[in-house]
Amino acid sequence: MEKLTLTRPDDWHLHLRDGTAMAAVLPDTARRFARAIVMPNLKPPVTTVALAAAYRDRILAALPAGMSFSPLMTLYLTDNMPPSEIDAVKTSGFVHAVKLYPAGATTNSDAGVSDLKYCSATLARMEKLGVPLLVHGEVTDPAVDIFDREAVFIDTVLSPLLCDFSALNVVLEHVTTKNGIDFVRDSGANVAATLTAHHLLLNRNAIFAGGIRPHNYCLPVLKRETHRLALVAAAISGNPKFFLGTDSAPHAQSAKETACGCAGCYTAHAGIELYAEAFEAAGALDKLEGFASFFGADFYGLPRNTAQISLRRESIAIPARLDYIDGDRLVPLRAGESVAWRLE
Ligand code: NCD
Ligand code: ZN
Repeated sequence: MEKLTLTRPDDWHLHLRDGTAMAAVLPDTARRFARAIVMPNLKPPVTTVALAAAYRDRILAALPAGMSFSPLMTLYLTDNMPPSEIDAVKTSGFVHAVKLYPAGATTNSDAGVSDLKYCSATLARMEKLGVPLLVHGEVTDPAVDIFDREAVFIDTVLSPLLCDFSALNVVLEHVTTKNGIDFVRDSGANVAATLTAHHLLLNRNAIFAGGIRPHNYCLPVLKRETHRLALVAAAISGNPKFFLGTDSAPHAQSAKETACGCAGCYTAHAGIELYAEAFEAAGALDKLEGFASFFGADFYGLPRNTAQISLRRESIAIPARLDYIDGDRLVPLRAGESVAWRLE
């Protein structure tokens, strides 16, 4: 297939940052995706509907003229978010979910949840009002092997959570293991997962290819090949529980190329093209549209997009660096290499 036309996709997991960083990255997403679920892990985090409204206004103000893009906002769950905030979410019309970061799990997660027992009343309200909980599914105990943290989270946190709140809508974000895929597939229709392009394309060898590769380091960390194969199988299965979420997470080059580099891969510059590569490699380009353009909207109870985009099969060079903030640059995934599809 030389040309691929799809209903315009959405990105159900995106980090847009704020200020000049946001202005630098937003056009990459807006060019491709009609909507995106915008992560709330700013500093300080987006913990109230009022903060989300202000953040949404800043995103819309930074959107270049003539681009159509709708940011779908989220709140950052803390130990003391009151249930009344969930009522405000429900009436806002622009906040679509609440994100659980176990405290310390990833970038800007210090204010996250220390123990879900503190959130019971708020989770009960979410379950009642149908507000989805988006989950960063890793335990933070440093004694647990980093490659096992998702599997241990499923057993010790997610599974008990769904026993207590069996009707809660949950998205296991950026699922990276066969354990996660099996869990989501075997749960009720209220449990879904997003899959990133980089976890579909790379296994953990990519972090150590000929030396340490900080730009392939993200959380949850890339896993071994057996897990990658399970992710690809889920993505191309046509099962509507699995949909697109890039987890594009920009960090300045200086914050990645250092003794203790930040977690996060920037993929928005080829946000749909990389998925097309992964689906083509699996011989399943016909399954891309459901995954990228339909299933997420259906899960969130939002209308499917009607506009279309086209990709042409043509190798496109990816720059070694992109402009970012204050003279600091951003190194995108595949920097200095190429991607096999071009957005028309
Ligand atoms: C994300 C970030 O940088 O905000 N990093 C990442 O590695 N994915 C946070 C997250 O989603 O874990
Ligand atoms: Zn993320």
